[in-house]
Amino acid sequence: MKAQIAVLPGDGIGPEIIRESVKVLEAIANTYGHSFSYVYGDIGAVAIKKTGHPLPDETLKIAQSSNAILFGAIGDPEFDYDPTLKVRPEQGLLKLRKELGLFTNIRPLSVFGQLLDEAPLKREIIEGVDLVIYRELTSGIYFGDKGLLENGNKAFDVCSYNSFEIDRILKLAFEAALSRRGKLCLVDKANVLETSRLWRKRALRMATQYPQVQLEFLYVDNAAMQMVLNPRQFDVIVTSNMFGDIISDISGVIGGSIGVLPSASIGTKAALFEPIHGSYPQAKGQDKANPLASILSVAMLLEHLGLMGESNQLRLAVDQSIKEGKTTEDLQRKKGVGTAEVGDYIVSLIRKKQLLKREIMAS
Ligand code: IPM
Ligand code: MN
Repeated sequence: MKAQIAVLPGDGIGPEIIRESVKVLEAIANTYGHSFSYVYGDIGAVAIKKTGHPLPDETLKIAQSSNAILFGAIGDPEFDYDPTLKVRPEQGLLKLRKELGLFTNIRPLSVFGQLLDEAPLKREIIEGVDLVIYRELTSGIYFGDKGLLENGNKAFDVCSYNSFEIDRILKLAFEAALSRRGKLCLVDKANVLETSRLWRKRALRMATQYPQVQLEFLYVDNAAMQMVLNPRQFDVIVTSNMFGDIISDISGVIGGSIGVLPSASIGTKAALFEPIHGSYPQAKGQDKANPLASILSVAMLLEHLGLMGESNQLRLAVDQSIKEGKTTEDLQRKKGVGTAEVGDYIVSLIRKKQLLKREIMAS
């Protein structure tokens, strides 16, 4: 197949992890006879420094005209310590999500067997975890009115949701539950927030169309605790933008490292694939950032393009690389290998084309 991929490396470790992801995509293309073209665009602090805008029009056009978008990371400490700044790197990503209508961010979590004893939580807690978070991505408090009053002595951020914004992600989440273990948990703060009560009302209404799905509700504070105490209880979690942002970082602890968690953002027109971690500026340019979250986002991108076999091969290659200890320092007690070496190793496994066969023989 032919596809155009928009590549937006962004800030911090973004360019180095994206370099490995593109290497891997190229290996897939060469091995399986596909032709991917890549169009690069600036976003975030890099774009502000070049053009004054966190999302230049040209980058938006590239994203709009591509079959899929591969995104690295955003954020730069230079912009973090001055709260008076009007232009910030993160605005680039938020605008991109909004302009492209990417209303659902899908964040799957399963724990690699090989990492069970390396992860910060005990094996008994994390073994067998298999959940997915459906995070609303283009509304809520991230996008409500905001501003300063009283000479800068009062600030506000409005959280609002329309029924249609809730229904469209709920539908995807119910469908996901149907195709998985049939459990859907709405995470909210309905004891306090009006928006959360609207989410509950819409979820109860939609539940009548999905009698096979068991719907439950959890307050976000309790959900945060339950995720660490007993993450196996969850199948599909659906939640608003802000709560989804917060609880999905907890999955980084469950999965062993935030460096292995991918995500897909989907909506009406486009699809964007990005790691859930940020720009990790302390590690920038040091060849030590974990490229697996981005490489696993490539696996989700391949699925989006309908290339299920290729995606499966890539996942097997990632498994194998972890099994063989070809991982960066965040996954090791020992020193770990560099970012580029992880990418090269996965490329070499893809080229061998033996992985799927081996897996079938072993089972
Ligand atoms: C994420 C990030 C972003 C968010 C930031 C960089 C704006 O934390 O994708 O989880 O809050 O959505
Ligand atoms: Mn986040």
